[in-house]
Amino acid sequence: MRPLQILPSILAADFAALGADVAACAGAGADQIHIDVMDGHFVPNITFGPDLVKAIRPHAAQPFDVHLMVAPVDAYLAPFAAAGADRLTVHVEAGPHLHRTLQAIRGLGIGAGVALNPGTPAAAIGPVLDLVDLVCVMTVNPGFGGQSFIKEMLPKIAEIRDMIAYRNIDIEVDGGVTAHNAGVIVAAGANMLVAGSAVFKGGRAQIGEAIAAIRKAAESARGERV
Ligand code: DX5
Ligand code: ZN
Repeated sequence: MRPLQILPSILAADFAALGADVAACAGAGADQIHIDVMDGHFVPNITFGPDLVKAIRPHAAQPFDVHLMVAPVDAYLAPFAAAGADRLTVHVEAGPHLHRTLQAIRGLGIGAGVALNPGTPAAAIGPVLDLVDLVCVMTVNPGFGGQSFIKEMLPKIAEIRDMIAYRNIDIEVDGGVTAHNAGVIVAAGANMLVAGSAVFKGGRAQIGEAIAAIRKAAESARGERV
């Protein structure tokens, strides 16, 4: 089993105090920081640019997992890498040249991920599996935090786990993750859990408790806790 990782999504953080919230996640058990970049075109919302990533980079030592909901995306790869992204995840639906985009990310010397919308079948990523370090299964339609987990995606997680087979690839689940569904998500084969609302809902003081609750549920389901 690949290591379990919990990734707070700062989409649900306090934007007026982002540095403090990122530092709080870093000190409260986050394994990586998930940063949602939205362009108002591929998804109906607008969030962060490379300068924001650069500004918060000093506030956490953990890897920055940057989820690009952007089309076309290629022009933004180098700026986000330069800003401090450790991995860039792009959407399979975002353009006709996914393979080229993933090669470009690898060429920047950072991790490459591919994300699938709920309506996209697992088979869509088959041809690029040897170019990615991570597959992100969206369990909400991207664009907003705080949506409900689409449980019909669980078989897709299991299908992707089987497709990955021996490869060195993480399976990330993004959207509506809570301590209540973390168990079934890891049982289906995911090892990286993104959580926005579930981590930040109680405010900064509760971040550690919220991350621990998700981790505990996931570890139980993985048989790592009695
Ligand atoms: C949705 C984003 C998610 C979002 C998850 O488009 O990709 O990362 O922040 O937020 P919650 O955990 O609130 O569903
Ligand atoms: Zn995301």
